[in-house]
Amino acid sequence: MKDGMNPFDQTVIENFFKMLEKKTGVALDLSKGYLVSSRLSTIVKQHGFINHISLLKHMASNQINSLHWQAFDAMTTNETSFFRDTTSFNAITEMILPALIAKKSNIKELNIWSCAASSGQEAYSIAILVRENFPELSKWKIHIKATDISKTSLDKARLGIYSHLEINRGLTNAQIKRYFRNLTPSIYQITNDLRQMVEFDYLNLIEDWPHSPKFDLILLRNALIYFNKDNKSQILKKINSSLADQESCLMLGSSESILFDPSFKTVQLERVTYYKKNVTFGII
Ligand SMILES: C[S@@+](CC[C@H](N)C(=O)[O-])C[C@H]1O[C@@H](n2cnc3c(N)ncnc32)[C@H](O)[C@@H]1O
Repeated sequence: MKDGMNPFDQTVIENFFKMLEKKTGVALDLSKGYLVSSRLSTIVKQHGFINHISLLKHMASNQINSLHWQAFDAMTTNETSFFRDTTSFNAITEMILPALIAKKSNIKELNIWSCAASSGQEAYSIAILVRENFPELSKWKIHIKATDISKTSLDKARLGIYSHLEINRGLTNAQIKRYFRNLTPSIYQITNDLRQMVEFDYLNLIEDWPHSPKFDLILLRNALIYFNKDNKSQILKKINSSLADQESCLMLGSSESILFDPSFKTVQLERVTYYKKNVTFGII
């Protein structure tokens, strides 16, 4: 019995975790069983269930519907912040974007994708970084796409509304002043100008991406840690074919890596690792 949980509840939670992994890729085991009651508490109340176990039993005996997706959404970990892991954003500013800008100077277009974007801080950090460091790009076509499976997070991201606590994680006072306006003394909204730079969309990383365009820079940070080996390698395969060419870059979270995948080349800067497409892979 895990942490005093009775065996019946354990089985109900394990079955829910199996369903969650099948539909979202997010793999949890019983050591994370304690998360279920807190993360599902709003849905339990909203739909009038006695507790989370009765909600899970109801879901188990019904076809997947919007209630299931509401529960899956609530189970995702959406932890994020502006300029999370500053060393990665420094590498983007100092190395990655200058190289991409030189390469694309003829067509003057850059395509960037934040593909587990949560509530938008990562994509808006890129927009701020572009505005602050590359004034020459004001005449370029800069397309920043940001996708996630969590509709709740995407709704928040599209509005660009953040609490005092959220904007104080990673932004300087000058950036707050320049790029946000107060809605109330403790609630801020990112300027329309920056909001318009980012296009938010729903995308489930473990499903097919039928019409994925090609990107010069892809950020897939702090999401792969939640997936099993098979899903991770399937996602990386799709990411690889979404990179425009051998100069395009993939950046993962600072604790994540691509292990032994010959379709990627590793670029190691001092404290930052990122990846490029290995175009010689598969050529004999
Ligand atoms: C911890 S957040 C990372 C946010 C941001 N990339 C960062 O590093 O700050 C992980 C995000 O992955 C998303 N996610 C989980 N499973 C997903 C899936 N199958 N498809 C797309 N996004 C997924 C979650 O909704 C969550 O917003």
